[in-house]
Amino acid sequence: MATMPVDRSPDSTLAFLRSGYRFIGERCDRYGSDVFQTRILLTPTICLRGRPAATLFYDTERFQRGNAMPLRVQRTLTGRGGVQGLDGAEHSDRKAMFMSIMTPDRIGQLGQLFDDEWRARLPAWEAAGPVTLYDEVGRLLTRVVCAWAGVPLPASQVDRRAVDLHAMIEGPAVVGPRHWRGLLARRRAERWLADRIERARVGTEPAPAGSVLDVIAEHRDARGALLPHRIAAVELLNILRPVVAVDRYITFAALALHDHPAWRQRVRDDGATEQFVQEVRRYYPFFPSAVARVRRSFDWAGHHFPRGRRVLLDLYGTNHHPALWPEPELFRPERFAGRRVDPFELVPQGGGDFSTGHRCAGEWITIDLMKRAVTNLTSAMTYDVPPQDLTLDLRRLPALPPSGLTLTNIRRT
Ligand code: HEM
Repeated sequence: MATMPVDRSPDSTLAFLRSGYRFIGERCDRYGSDVFQTRILLTPTICLRGRPAATLFYDTERFQRGNAMPLRVQRTLTGRGGVQGLDGAEHSDRKAMFMSIMTPDRIGQLGQLFDDEWRARLPAWEAAGPVTLYDEVGRLLTRVVCAWAGVPLPASQVDRRAVDLHAMIEGPAVVGPRHWRGLLARRRAERWLADRIERARVGTEPAPAGSVLDVIAEHRDARGALLPHRIAAVELLNILRPVVAVDRYITFAALALHDHPAWRQRVRDDGATEQFVQEVRRYYPFFPSAVARVRRSFDWAGHHFPRGRRVLLDLYGTNHHPALWPEPELFRPERFAGRRVDPFELVPQGGGDFSTGHRCAGEWITIDLMKRAVTNLTSAMTYDVPPQDLTLDLRRLPALPPSGLTLTNIRRT
């Protein structure tokens, strides 16, 4: 049996928070191994990266999600009782509900609303002077996703709902005020949406037929029971929150267009938008890792994985693994030209199978919205990017340029 390298520090939580996205990768490089063990939040944790490790991690016979996610993440980012923490038949049933929403028609409708709203905002952006892209797109996506999902959202509430949807993503990996804002935001949002679910069910404010709200409010489990209001709210938030979070990727895409201006032309004229968007998802940081627990003891690649051990798969590190991506620190969309990407190589939104595993239910939506945003940025408008702080600090979870990407002199084309 090979000896699994062990991080020397008695607990690496602070190091994890300090190193951010590079925590696992740095140690893998140091130990010359894509597997090592450490302690995070005082819990022994095996860290993995790379394609073989991703293939292992998404084997649902070997890993479970029940009792895997740290409480501080559940209380802010994911909520409790949602699809992320389910296993086996219960997971398949709940995941089928999500995947039933992801039809080409529905994805197209969301995209159309997004394009319409983007065009409708352009005159205001032209008139406004400096515009912070991240904030603008966040509010735009909040309006769009609520309209699409059948969740009423008065104009007066857009700003504060957008703030809460962001705070849940900002909350898990920090201590102090950013974390507390995440806790409060989740509590408020779950209350708001549990109320919508209840009104839809009793018929005081019926959900539009076939809307996301309708699908979730009326979903019945294998025993024929409706989801409890609070859990239905958690699942509705599992749609609203991440659709709004696509604003981060859209900001990264605009940053990439700024840093690699030749690609403006290529996405416009050569139909290279898909490659460009895939490289944005590979290159830029979003979620650092995914978490599971060993379901029952097994050995793999000469290493022992004891039952119950927490395991982290390094998503960022796998997307930057030199064995998969030559010169991984270079932004090169052409690496995707003609490349068939298998389900365990490009894992910013998890890997493996959508229906049987925990791969992100919203990957198609994410790619579609990003492509539309890139088309709008390159074909529907011109703008300048004035001097500002665009550094991407990989120690900050989740990362974003501090300026949020300010644009000036926006003009419709
Ligand atoms: C903003 C870009 C997004 C990123 C970076 C992202 C990333 C992820 C990741 C890393 C996971 C966990 C994978 C795992 O546990 O192994 C996940 C799961 C999930 N995502 Fe996304 N996601 C995004 C957008 C979306 C969108 C737009 C939706 C819905 C419309 C969505 C819905 C979900 C759901 C429901 C799950 C849970 C799946 C399960 O546990 O079976 N995500 N996502």
